[in-house]
Amino acid sequence: MIRTAIYPGSFDPVTNGHLDIIHRGKHLFDRIIVAVSKDSHKSPYFSLEERLSFLRTALKGTPGIGVDTFSGLLTNYVKIQKACAVIRGLRAVSDFEYEFQMALMNRRQNTRFETVFLMPDERYTYLSSSLVREISRLGGHVRGLVP
Ligand code: PNS
Repeated sequence: MIRTAIYPGSFDPVTNGHLDIIHRGKHLFDRIIVAVSKDSHKSPYFSLEERLSFLRTALKGTPGIGVDTFSGLLTNYVKIQKACAVIRGLRAVSDFEYEFQMALMNRRQNTRFETVFLMPDERYTYLSSSLVREISRLGGHVRGLVP
């Protein structure tokens, strides 16, 4: 049986922290689908096509990793893909409350998968897509933070 996990997010843009989580997840699952939400409540800085293209380029040639989009509820997408888990990254305690709420709400919708939290390398604990966007917008260096 192939064990598939979904790694959902906005990826606006994908960071080296996201890639670190994907590679860690690959040790646990046979297949990971990196799923970009089309229905995020945040209005994205990069278009859907740009975000997909960044992900596809960064993950090109990595076996067992797919990139896709989804709309509507994550729990429906998990069912369609017959996935057994959703992966989310936890960088700091401040992430916990939102992630915990989302994991339990998702479990309420569909009890047939688990949310698995993975911690990135310490180098990435302070890294977020929103900070990357801001640094870039204001002319700072993002080398080493994004692929
Ligand atoms: O990278 P993000 O913005 O933290 O990702 C959040 C995301 C896209 C995983 C979350 O908003 C989501 O799952 N959206 C899909 C719609 C959904 O299922 N909402 C209910 C969540 S409890």
